[in-house]
Amino acid sequence: MKQTLKGLVLSGGAGTRLRPITHTSAKQLVPVANKPVLFYGLEALRDAGIREIGIIVGDTHAEIEAAVGDGSQFGVEVTYIRQSAPLGLAHAVLTAEEFLGDAQFVMYLGDNLLRDGIQGLVEDFRTNDAAAMILLQQVPNPESYGVAELEGGRVVRLVEKPSAPKSDLALVGVYMFGPSILAAAKAIAPSPRGELEITDAIQHLIDIGERVEPSVVTGWWKDTGMLDDMLEANRLILDVIAPRIDGEVENSTIEGRVVIEEGARVINSSVRGPAIIGSGAVIENAYVGPYSAISAGVLIRNSEVEHSIFLENSQLDGIDARVESSLVGRGVVIRKSDAKPRAYRFMVGDSSTIGLI
Ligand code: DAU
Repeated sequence: MKQTLKGLVLSGGAGTRLRPITHTSAKQLVPVANKPVLFYGLEALRDAGIREIGIIVGDTHAEIEAAVGDGSQFGVEVTYIRQSAPLGLAHAVLTAEEFLGDAQFVMYLGDNLLRDGIQGLVEDFRTNDAAAMILLQQVPNPESYGVAELEGGRVVRLVEKPSAPKSDLALVGVYMFGPSILAAAKAIAPSPRGELEITDAIQHLIDIGERVEPSVVTGWWKDTGMLDDMLEANRLILDVIAPRIDGEVENSTIEGRVVIEEGARVINSSVRGPAIIGSGAVIENAYVGPYSAISAGVLIRNSEVEHSIFLENSQLDGIDARVESSLVGRGVVIRKSDAKPRAYRFMVGDSSTIGLI
């Protein structure tokens, strides 16, 4: 009988590129269409028939544990594995050695999103018995990723974030491994950025003659580590969301693919989908336009929003110009003030960006 495949989800790390949002919270919990990006990965593993999932956590472990719990809400069993510091993806694998045993496993980076899930890919891996299967996708900026060079359909070289990439095939953040990856992770040295790179560990497998199978992913894939990618992921998910109105709508127009959660109120407003409005949110005398994800408890009043993500309990009140392409953190208040003298008044956290007109 084939051994059960395990899942390893990486949810540690620092999240420097989504600051200030990630000064105070885990980047894997930033929501895409009002659902933490990490949850999509857990669901993808579950849908591929994987039940035992280890989650690598770091400094933000309490927040991740509070959101995911024991995994029963996803129909999986979660084991938390604490990584001392974000010392690299291969270091994370070594940290999970006891959990993994000699099982085959799928490693899923907690900030990655794949449209078509991984069901078919996991099936292929179960039957092809390779030491590793890597997923690849053509990208316009390969220097930001691990890059693969193929020859005659075989992987010959993998390089982490090369300054002069030899191909445009990026490594997607979902990998399938047999147990030999553990020895490979022990055999490599830290990279110039000081991390034990999974890219180097897979290269080591190739160097010692193990079989590494490539699979080019055709549906969209997003690494949500940066603002533009996060907004783009939001757009892609909202494009296919099933419309549903469970909240209250009063004297308002709702057009297109719109989700209004129970407990949300839309008053004297216009909502044009694709958009989602979380529970307890209030939209009043406002316009919420395409590709907006409004989280629970948010207030949008006397304002216009489009192509933006508002996190829990933030407020936008009385702003004349339309707000777009924005990611607004939890509890942020953006409000027109009548106080004299007329002036902009900010209390803004570290590493924030504000664009005024
Ligand atoms: O998204 C795909 C890319 O992911 C690949 O193309 C690269 O080859 C691969 O190295 C990785 O690059 P990133 O620089 O984007 O990885 P990042 O540091 O963002 O970490 C990915 C996830 O793993 C993130 O959710 C944090 C977590 N992590 C990261 C490190 C370094 C850990 O849990 N522990 C760690 O030590």
